[in-house]
Amino acid sequence: MAEYLLVKESQIALFKNTPFYYQNGAGEYVIYKKKGERLDENRLSKIKYPDLYIFDADKDAAITELMTSLNNDLQAKIKGGDLKDVRQTLAVIMTEALTPSQPESMNTLPETIDILMGHCSKKDGTLKYLSQIASHSSLLIEHTVNITALTLHFCFFHGFSESDTRQLAMAAMLHDAGCAKLDNRLIESDKRLTDEQFKVYSTHPQLGHDLIILNSDFDIAVPTVALEHHERIDGSGYPNGRRRITSYAQLIGLIDCYESLAYRWKKYRKTKKPFHALHLIKEEVMAGKFSKEIFKQFTSCLKK
Ligand SMILES: [Fe+2]
Ligand SMILES: [Fe+2]
Repeated sequence: MAEYLLVKESQIALFKNTPFYYQNGAGEYVIYKKKGERLDENRLSKIKYPDLYIFDADKDAAITELMTSLNNDLQAKIKGGDLKDVRQTLAVIMTEALTPSQPESMNTLPETIDILMGHCSKKDGTLKYLSQIASHSSLLIEHTVNITALTLHFCFFHGFSESDTRQLAMAAMLHDAGCAKLDNRLIESDKRLTDEQFKVYSTHPQLGHDLIILNSDFDIAVPTVALEHHERIDGSGYPNGRRRITSYAQLIGLIDCYESLAYRWKKYRKTKKPFHALHLIKEEVMAGKFSKEIFKQFTSCLKK
């Protein structure tokens, strides 16, 4: 049977080449907007459109169109200069890219990174500030945007090559892709996880790795970061207790840890001031879990 997918109200105006359908009184799907037409966004504030649907067979083309429109929107928001708007659009892009039912949408993320790399100045720390604004998205999306912004800031600060920066940013965006496949209550929980819950949670590195491999042809460095970002060089991490971890995974793992301490509020643990968060990570460095060199590099980029 033909399937139709509901279009999010906030995204109605982003489609031009995708036909929309609505359900008539008899429950049949009838064309509402033909290919090549765009619905007026302003109309939404006055008259509501009916629930609109995309035909299942148009889904792949619709995802590509949506992600391209969102990237154009991101470009416009960056030019507009309001970082809150930039952050909001980035959050929408990440939300779409991490939606389990449309994993192919992650393939437009390199374009998103190119836009960020092309427009965010290497000197003014825009990306660092971008990581400090809240956009009230889900915790996973907030976290992902923060990690991506901090990673790009790190790469710019240390003068990484364009290709290394691009790959690290991709890895940052997708490091927790596996979490999107888990029950959101587990991800959003502000309580300490039980052993049973942690067992489930700790599957996310492998899930993310497999998801990226299956749905993209990104360099192996990207899924490897998803797999290894909770591993520690003393072998105390998970899921495999590996000691040999790629430097990319070590870096994202450290940024991940910092972001979680400095930005995540939990019932059992208040957020820490950046200095305090770094102090706690330093204890982990001294215990042999993180590389001293990477910690030093991260600390120096945060001071700027
Ligand atoms: Fe993770
Ligand atoms: Fe993470």
